[in-house]
Amino acid sequence: MRAWPTIAFGGDYNPEQWPREVWDEDVRLMQEAGVNIVTLGVFSWAHLEPRPGELRFDWLDEVIDLLHAGGIAVDLATATASPPPWLAHRHPEMLPVTAEGVTLWTGGRQAYCPSSPVYREHSHRIVRALAERYGSHPAVVMWHVNNEIGCHNVLCYCDESARAFRSWLEVRYGSVEALNEAWGTAFWSQRYDDFAEIQPPRAAPAFVNPTHQLDFHRFSSDAALAIYLGERDILKELTPDIPVTTNFMVMPHEGEMDYFRWGPELDVVANDHYLTAADPENHRGLAFSSDLVRGVAGGEPWLLMETSTSAVNWQPRNVAKRPGELLRSALQHVARGADGVLFFQWRASRAGAEKFHSGLVPHAGTDSRLWREVVGLGRTLAAISEVAGARSRNEVAVLFDWQAWWACELDAHPSEDVRYWDTVESVHRSLTDCGIGVDVVHPETDLTGYRVIVVPVLYLVTDAGAAAVRAAAESGAHVVVTYFSGIVDESDHIRLGGYPGAFREMLGIVSEEFTPLRENETVTLSDGSRGTVWAEDVRSVGADVLATFVDGPVPGAPAITRNRVGAGSATYLATRLDQRDLDRVLAEVVGDAGVPQVADVPPGVEALRRHGEDGTSWLFLVNHTDEPVEVACSGHDLVADRQASGVHAVAAGSVAVLREHRG
Ligand code: GAL
Repeated sequence: MRAWPTIAFGGDYNPEQWPREVWDEDVRLMQEAGVNIVTLGVFSWAHLEPRPGELRFDWLDEVIDLLHAGGIAVDLATATASPPPWLAHRHPEMLPVTAEGVTLWTGGRQAYCPSSPVYREHSHRIVRALAERYGSHPAVVMWHVNNEIGCHNVLCYCDESARAFRSWLEVRYGSVEALNEAWGTAFWSQRYDDFAEIQPPRAAPAFVNPTHQLDFHRFSSDAALAIYLGERDILKELTPDIPVTTNFMVMPHEGEMDYFRWGPELDVVANDHYLTAADPENHRGLAFSSDLVRGVAGGEPWLLMETSTSAVNWQPRNVAKRPGELLRSALQHVARGADGVLFFQWRASRAGAEKFHSGLVPHAGTDSRLWREVVGLGRTLAAISEVAGARSRNEVAVLFDWQAWWACELDAHPSEDVRYWDTVESVHRSLTDCGIGVDVVHPETDLTGYRVIVVPVLYLVTDAGAAAVRAAAESGAHVVVTYFSGIVDESDHIRLGGYPGAFREMLGIVSEEFTPLRENETVTLSDGSRGTVWAEDVRSVGADVLATFVDGPVPGAPAITRNRVGAGSATYLATRLDQRDLDRVLAEVVGDAGVPQVADVPPGVEALRRHGEDGTSWLFLVNHTDEPVEVACSGHDLVADRQASGVHAVAAGSVAVLREHRG
C-alpha cells in the first residue's frame, strides 16, 4: 500500500514545544525546504490528555489544518510512545522493572511495561479517539503507531511481564514437559513442574538456562509487536484506507526486535537510522542497515522515518556531519530502496534532553550552512521523485537473523569476541566493495536466484534454514559459511556429530573442537592472510583445502575450505579474517560466480541501481571521497540535470542519479 507517489521529505514535528506564533513560520519554512510530510504527535499524549479523561484536541486541530493549508501531509502518530506522568502516578504497577528488580520511573520517556494491561487500556482509548477525530482529515495520509516500539523498555521483568511470559510459553510449548525438553532442564536441577514456577530470566546466582533466555528474547519481541498489532487493529477498524506504519530501529545497538516477524504486519516498513559517530567510515554501517531494512520489507520500497541532519545527542561524542554528508547519507538510503527521507526533528529543541540534537531548523536559524543543505536536499529529492516505487534487484545475499544474533551472544559460549552484528557487517562491507548490490535476508526466505550467499556466524539455524541454503548451493549458488554457524537448532541444542552440524555435509568438513583465540591473539594462514577471534580443529571430508593454519592452536588444520555441491560450491572460513583478507576471499567468490558490477567505480564510490516496473532503471552514484571521479555510464543525471554519454563526472563528496533507459 503506497502512501504517496513521490519521495517523502520531512520529519518529526513537535509544535507543542513552541509558542503558537512559531507555527506559521514553521509551515512557511517547510514550504521553502520542500518538506511534503511531517510526523506529528509522537510525544503528545500529555498535551492531548493533560488530566485523566480530559481530551484536548484544539491545538492539534489547528496544527493539522495549518499544515494542510500549506500543502503538507501528516503522518499522524498515535501519541502512545510516552504515557503522561499521571498514569504511572495512579498505576505504578505499569512501570518497567529490570532483571535486577529496579523499577524504571517516569521523568524520562517510555516508562511502561510492554505487557501492562493498564498501559494497553489507556493507550487504546487515545488511539481510538485520534482515529475517530482525524481519520477523515485530508491531511492525514498515514498512521504512525507509537514510536520505536521497544526502545528503552523492551526487556521488562516485572510481575506483569512474568505472567505474560508464562502465557506465551504455554502457547509455544503446550505442556510443561515439552518446555522441559526444549530448555534442557535435566541440567542443574531446573525441571519445572508447572508453568507457574517459571520467572523471567531475572538476575540469578549463575548463568540462566540459555533456552530460557532465548525464549525471553522471543517473548519480549512479540510483546512489543503486540503493542503495534493492538493499535493497528483499532486503526484498521476505524480507518481501513489509511496505511499504518511504525518506525523500526535496525541499528547495531538495538537488537531486541525480530523485525523479520514484524515487517509483514506493516503497510509500509519504516526505519530510523543514526550514524555511529565513533566510526570514521560509518557510511558503511548505514549501507548495511539500509540493505537489511529492505530485506525486512521483503524487497519493497520503505521509508527512512528518522535520521539526523547533523549530530545526535546520545552518543559519547556527537560528531557533526561534514558539508555534503547529509546529502550522501540520504541518497545512500534512497539508492537502497527508501522512498522517503525524514528526520528527527523539524526544529532543534531549545529545552529538554535532546536540545543538542540537530534538526532541520538549527538553533542558529536559517542563515546557516545546515539550513542551506536541508533546502538543497529537498530540491534533490524533488528532482529524483520519479524513482519512488522502483526496486532493487541483486544476485548476492547475506543471511541475517535476529534470533541467531540473540543466541550467538548468550553467555557461557566459547568466546565473547564473536560479535554478531560486527561480523555480518564486515562481510557486507567486503561484498559492497566489489561494486555490487547486496541483499540482507532471513535464512528462510526464498534464496533461489542468488549466485552468492554468505552465512556469517549463523550460530542458530532451523532445519528449514539449513535446507534452504543447501538447496541454493545444489542449484548453483556459491555459498560461504563462517565459523560458529549452524551449531544449534532453534532450541539452542547442539547439532551433534561434529561441528558445524547444520552445514557439515554441505561443506565437506567436520570440526572436532573449537579452539578460540586469546584476546588480541592472531593466527597466520598459509595463503598469507591473518585471522583473529577464532580457530578450530577442522578436518576435510571431501572439501578442497584452500589454506591451513600456520600457527596458533591448530597448526596444519584447514582454515579455508571449498566443497563442490551440485552446480554450486560451499566455502568455509574457520577464523575471523582481517577485513582485507575477507575482501579478497569474497571478491574471488563473487568473481567466480560471475556477478557483474553495477558500474566500474573506484574505492569510496558506491554504485547502486533501482528498477522501475516499466523497465526504466536509475543508477545512483555516491562519491564518499574528497576527489572528483569519472564513471563510465550513460543517462540523464536528475540531480545535475545533465546528460551523460559514456562517462559521467561526480564531484568530490557528491552524488548523481542517472535515469538509464534499458529494456
Ligand atoms: C529516536 C527517537 C526520537 C529521538 C531520536 C534522537 O530514538 O525515536 O524521538 O529521540 O531517536 O536521535
